[in-house]
Amino acid sequence: MKVFISRNIPQEGIDTLKEHGMTVVINADNKQLSQDELIQACLEVDFLLNVGHADLNAHFLKACSHLKGIALASVGYDHIDLSAATSLGIPVSNTPDVLSGSTADVAFLLMLAVSRKAFYRANEVREGKWKDFEFMQDLGIELNNKTLGIYGLGRIGIEMAKKAKAAYNMDIIYHNRNRNEEAELQLDAKYVSFEELLKQSDVISLHNNLSPETLYKFDKDAFKQMKDTSILINTARGKVVKEDDLLEALQNGTIWGAGLDVTDPEPMSPDNPLLQLPNVCVLPHIGSATIETRTQMAMMTARNIIAAAKGEKMPQVVNHQVYS
Ligand code: DGY
Repeated sequence: MKVFISRNIPQEGIDTLKEHGMTVVINADNKQLSQDELIQACLEVDFLLNVGHADLNAHFLKACSHLKGIALASVGYDHIDLSAATSLGIPVSNTPDVLSGSTADVAFLLMLAVSRKAFYRANEVREGKWKDFEFMQDLGIELNNKTLGIYGLGRIGIEMAKKAKAAYNMDIIYHNRNRNEEAELQLDAKYVSFEELLKQSDVISLHNNLSPETLYKFDKDAFKQMKDTSILINTARGKVVKEDDLLEALQNGTIWGAGLDVTDPEPMSPDNPLLQLPNVCVLPHIGSATIETRTQMAMMTARNIIAAAKGEKMPQVVNHQVYS
């Protein structure tokens, strides 16, 4: 059976597929394909191993309804129309757990970098603007014993909370659709309403899925309820935050700082005024971008395809109904 891999992945994933008798076709120039190009490539194969966030919408899925499985090399699956995949009988898998630690590392990195304006200050050095020792210039804020509010306390949120507690003894509060009692025990985390999360947190870190319920959840109204000393960290999805409102909140001093690993749209335009602010750090969606994690993600997607090729259930299937 044949698999199309839409962008380069670590060799271990390719080798695993080949060792199990799969024929592997890789997008040779490693560029983001248009939807038509992706459809053309998939017409020749049985499986798609999808890297990146191309819109796998109903049009794509109908055109590729022969696919026996789609393995997403991501934990998020907001870029695929799952109900269309399910009704066409296509199982879809993702890559949970293996990227929780590395993604939480980036959330932690952003929290610390924003709190000390580190990226901005590092740029000043690069631009020759380091003139003198300034006692009062661009002071940061400390994180010790502050309150970390997690929006979406799942696997990645728990890793972030553990790091923040271990490093800075931060108190953990969270808001989820459902309570996470295991995390409450493990981290002494307290469940609060969304309004209380906004009011009480010194840092809010987003670890939720993108859904109609979370789309632009962090808007002007939300920022108004946050502390003027607070920091917003987003390693989830850009569209959870209304970026124009965030810019205004930062410019007005409604909140103190922001660290973004995801933006709306991606890539962020280099002209975006957020990039000029001292208390903002933006990274190019690198949450899971380590050799170790990307290797594990590649192996996980390969194992899901191998299972589907054998007629077995994909171990990390996200549209379970497809098997019922
Ligand atoms: C994920 O795993 O969802 C990351 O955003 C990378 O795609």
